[in-house]
Amino acid sequence: DRAEERAALTLLIAAPRGFCAGVDRAIEIVERALARYGPPVYVRHEIVHNRYVVDSLKAKGAVFVEELDSVPDGAPVVFSAHGVPKAVPAEAERRGLDYLDATCPLVSKVHRQAERQIEAGRHIVFVGHRGHPEVIGTMGQVPEGRMTLVETVADVEALDFPPDQPLAFLTQTTLSVDDTRAIVVALQAKYPHVVGPKAEDICYATSNRQAAVKAIAPDSDLVLVIGAPNSSNSLRLVEVAERCGTDAKLIQRASDIRPEWLDGVETVGLTAGASAPEELVREVVEQLSQWRTVEEHTLVTAEEKMVFKLPRQLVD
Ligand code: F3S
Repeated sequence: DRAEERAALTLLIAAPRGFCAGVDRAIEIVERALARYGPPVYVRHEIVHNRYVVDSLKAKGAVFVEELDSVPDGAPVVFSAHGVPKAVPAEAERRGLDYLDATCPLVSKVHRQAERQIEAGRHIVFVGHRGHPEVIGTMGQVPEGRMTLVETVADVEALDFPPDQPLAFLTQTTLSVDDTRAIVVALQAKYPHVVGPKAEDICYATSNRQAAVKAIAPDSDLVLVIGAPNSSNSLRLVEVAERCGTDAKLIQRASDIRPEWLDGVETVGLTAGASAPEELVREVVEQLSQWRTVEEHTLVTAEEKMVFKLPRQLVD
């Protein structure tokens, strides 16, 4: 029965992929808070943008809410990895809530830079995606009207600050490395005195994952990116693959893969956004293995050793 023999499929797995140090830390904060306080532990916003992670924490007793109003008095609450506007910890303090901040330290670093630039009398141009919780959190570090969001080079062209306006720029941590470079170049051309970080604020995990997908996409007929539709860094991975000229699909779980996507496909590239757990990568490999005879290769473009300290309250 040779006709039933399954066709071969080469699977190119990107590395690094999946969890970054900030996501690891955020999940550990919720788990330790559950162990320390007992359930329920409230979490403001999805701790990281992944339904699988959120559901498994829910099963352990975490309760996800969008605003502090939904947290009862006296309950512990964790702020998500994306960071929060200053008003949120202020409100938690006013209510006497026991709160734990799971903001990624690389996002907190941008928050501190924002404060510093305002103290230095500069207006901030912030490169980011409107509506993303990290953008809301970072813009909420400074008084209203002191930070202007730009999403594109066209937005930079439309800026009309007076030529002598002291300016600084900062960026969201999970942007496209290539697009951000173009936006920053446009900004520096228009306002040569603009002050900014040495590189952008795009984090190591975001840039490593983009570089890793660039390494697998040209040799793939299709790239699968495991991630959530609201995960900025995952969406960027899809774009990076597409810009290499390869079809790319964002999937949340293995069950999202349509068998017809594999028609005529000999090589599949696979990666996962910073908030997607490795279990989901294995699930996808198993699903593909049910349809085809998979030969797995991992392409390593960088080693990551980053680990972030936990908040003091949670360290014994
Ligand atoms: Fe932090 Fe970057 Fe991850 S900002 S949460 S290390 S994607």
